Parts: sequence; C-alpha cells; structure tokens
Amino acid sequence: MIWPQKNIQKKQDEIAPVLLEGPRVCMRPPKLSDAQEWQVVRSRNRAYLQPFEPTWDENCLNTDYFHRRWARQKYEWDHGTAHALLIFKKQDKSLIGGMNINHVCRGAGQYASLGYWIDETHQGQGYMAESLHLTLKFAFVDLDLHRVHASCILKNTRSKNLLTRSGFKEEGYAEKYIAIDGQWQDHHLFGITIEDWRRSGVAGGV
Ligand SMILES: CC(C)(COP(=O)(O)OP(=O)(O)OC[C@H]1O[C@@H](n2cnc3c(N)ncnc32)[C@H](O)[C@@H]1OP(=O)(O)O)[C@@H](O)C(=O)NCCC(=O)NCCS
Repeated sequence: MIWPQKNIQKKQDEIAPVLLEGPRVCMRPPKLSDAQEWQVVRSRNRAYLQPFEPTWDENCLNTDYFHRRWARQKYEWDHGTAHALLIFKKQDKSLIGGMNINHVCRGAGQYASLGYWIDETHQGQGYMAESLHLTLKFAFVDLDLHRVHASCILKNTRSKNLLTRSGFKEEGYAEKYIAIDGQWQDHHLFGITIEDWRRSGVAGGV
C-alpha cells in the first residue's frame, strides 16, 4: 500500500496516490482514464446490480457522467469525507468491482459506511472478501477510523455472508433505510470496531 507518500507527484487524472494490494486484487481510486472500462463493466452488470443499488441515473453510463462523478470523488478524497476505490484483478489488470468508504464522520464518532459491488462473473470466488479485508485495513490503519458500518437489504444473502465472514456483527434493523431499486427498503445493519477487527486475527498484528 502507498499512503501517503508526499514525494509521489499526483498525476493529472489521479485522485490520490493510494494502492491497496492483496494476493489476487489491487484497489485504487478511480482515474479519468478508467471511464471506458467502467462503462463496459457496469453496463454488462446492470440487470444483476440494479436490485441491490439505488436507481441508476439515465446518463450513468456516459463519459461525461463518469467525469463529473470522478470530480466529486476527488473532492471527497481531498476533504476526507469519502474514499472511492476500484477493484482490479491482478492477473490481467481488469476492473472487477468497486468499494466506497462513505459518510466519513470525524470528531467523537470516527466511523464510515461501506458500499460495494463485484462483477457478476467474479462473484462467489472470494474477490470481494479479499477487497473487504484490504479496505478494513485501510480504514482502520490509514484513515484511523474506529468503526466501519455496512447495511444490506433483507434478501441480500451474499452481502450478509460476506460481512459476517469478515468479522462484522449484525447490530440492528432499519425500516425503510435507503431507497434501493426505486423503493425505500428495510435493511439489516452491520458494524465492526477496530477492537473487534484486531481481535479477529485478520489484522495481522496491527
Ligand atoms: C455482495 C457481493 C459483493 C458479494 O460478493 P461475493 O463474491 O459473494 O463475496 P466473496 O468474495 O466473499 O465470495 C464468497 C464466496 O467465494 C468463495 N471463495 C472462493 N475462494 C475464496 C477465497 N479465497 N476467500 C474467500 N471466499 C472464497 C466462498 O466460499 C464463497 O462461496 P459461496 O458463495 O458458495 O458461499 C456480490 O454478491 C455483489 O456484488 N452483489 C451485487 C451488489 C451488492 O449486493 N452490493 C452490496 C450491497 S449491500
């Protein structure tokens, strides 16, 4: 992982010089040059992802939309309010998913919430488990957060399994919490603290 290295000059389309590396995936903030591949991957996953995501904007696959989204993500990285990461398969450097560390709360809270997706053809193979492992390390060690939240709609068994296997505890239930696929939907709420993450043994002695 590279964070932060003041001697690295940010390239023009780079949000931040961050690279998280695991055995099979690497993660970094989006670049403007990712636009085309992002459009291809998101487009072929539309029917599979839409039931688990907020309603897609009609322009969301346009290059202009990606550029505006990138500018917002850069602003959020620069202000420390959110950290968007793309997930790449190391074997062939292809884009296979995304992870967003959203709603970073500082002060007495020191928490954030996660959103994530993986390309359908890479689902069920542990790529997201590895990505979440890297994300938690980044959140707790580099961002110095104390707690990470995630939530999922009731039918999202894969997401629930991912979270519980990764050390999250189910902490609650929120009625009509987030508008997913055009409807306010009830969610299961999950969380993990830095103490539980360290105790889980996956922190690697950090
Ligand atoms: C939720 C989502 C990210 C889960 O992805 P996933 O690929 O199922 O998650 P994992 O990476 O943990 O993969 C788990 C599976 O890989 C298997 N696996 C294989 N090799 C593995 C490895 N090295 N490490 C861990 N798991 C491995 C596990 O046994 C498990 O198999 P199972 O599905 O038969 O139980 C994915 O389903 C998704 O993107 N869904 C649509 C969008 C979405 O729901 N987003 C989240 C909204 S809350």
